[in-house]
Amino acid sequence: MDSKTTERLAATAAGIARAAEILSSGGLVAFPTETVYGLGADAGNGTAVAKVYAAKDRPAFNPLIVHFADIATVQKHVEWTAEAATLAAAFWPGPLTLVLPLRPDHGISSLVTAGQPSLAVRVPSHPIARQLLSAAALPVAAPSANPSGRISPTTADHVLNALGGRIDAVLDGGPCTVGLESTILSLADPTAVLLRQGGLPQEELEAALGYPLRLAAQDAPVTAPGQLRSHYAPRAPVRLNARHAKKGEVFLGFGACDGELNLSAQGSLVEAAANLFDHLHRLDRLGQPIAIAAIPDHGLGRAINDRLRRAAAPRDEEI
Ligand code: TXA
Ligand code: MG
Repeated sequence: MDSKTTERLAATAAGIARAAEILSSGGLVAFPTETVYGLGADAGNGTAVAKVYAAKDRPAFNPLIVHFADIATVQKHVEWTAEAATLAAAFWPGPLTLVLPLRPDHGISSLVTAGQPSLAVRVPSHPIARQLLSAAALPVAAPSANPSGRISPTTADHVLNALGGRIDAVLDGGPCTVGLESTILSLADPTAVLLRQGGLPQEELEAALGYPLRLAAQDAPVTAPGQLRSHYAPRAPVRLNARHAKKGEVFLGFGACDGELNLSAQGSLVEAAANLFDHLHRLDRLGQPIAIAAIPDHGLGRAINDRLRRAAAPRDEEI
């Protein structure tokens, strides 16, 4: 991706205002939370979210956690439950992420949820994070601000060393106090499941809930085949690496070409990633076989191709 100058912003009123302005205009800002530095983008802006995956060099579209300034704003985006209320009262703001069903008209990009009907939400306690979230007045999607597979950052220097030149700014709030990612608990199904051990101990959650938690297999990918395949696989057959549509097919293009829809006429993988789920849904509604242009297999193209291969996999191989 293009190299850019990454601003280091002081955690002053002016620095926070500048960071909020960058987020509002679709840019990427790393910011401190009590757990780790997050790489923030406007969660309602698919292109901004695609840039997060590109900057991190994430090979796959894992769903992202969305950060909010307060509980009232969280409740506008997800279905609130009695257990969520108990846990939020006990632990928010703080290092706990809750996965809850999305509400209709949630306004969150499908790239944030990786097409799932649930959303991971969190209200961080770091004062600078809270000021930034209030100033931006946006839901902010933020994975840890490190390249994929590398160690999570707990200082602004960690962020700059790894992502300098790839993001617009880092808001320097000093070292993170928790230094471990948030604990992730799913309340999207009838029984609560601990998806990730993190900054809030399991025992504290169990004490608040009053029962022992079911644990997800640690390190199991959230986007396990079968769990998400139905979101990627249109009902009609999908043909990849197509040059043009055959009779009866609709065509999803990339770069300069004719077709019903184009992932990015100018050949931008960032734009293509932002359009991917939405375009597949739209073509699926037409109910015809779908031919899809070849996508370069580098950068975000690897993640796009991963999803397209799932979409094109023979249906009898579904798990
Ligand atoms: O402490 C943290 O949580 C940091 C700071 C920046 O807030 N963020 C963070 O994000 O660790 P990230 O992207 O590294 O972790 C996101 C993980 C996903 O890999 C997945 O395990 C889980 O959150 N997740 C997100 N959305 C989910 C969903 N809808 N269903 C299940 N799991 C989800
Ligand atoms: Mg991470």
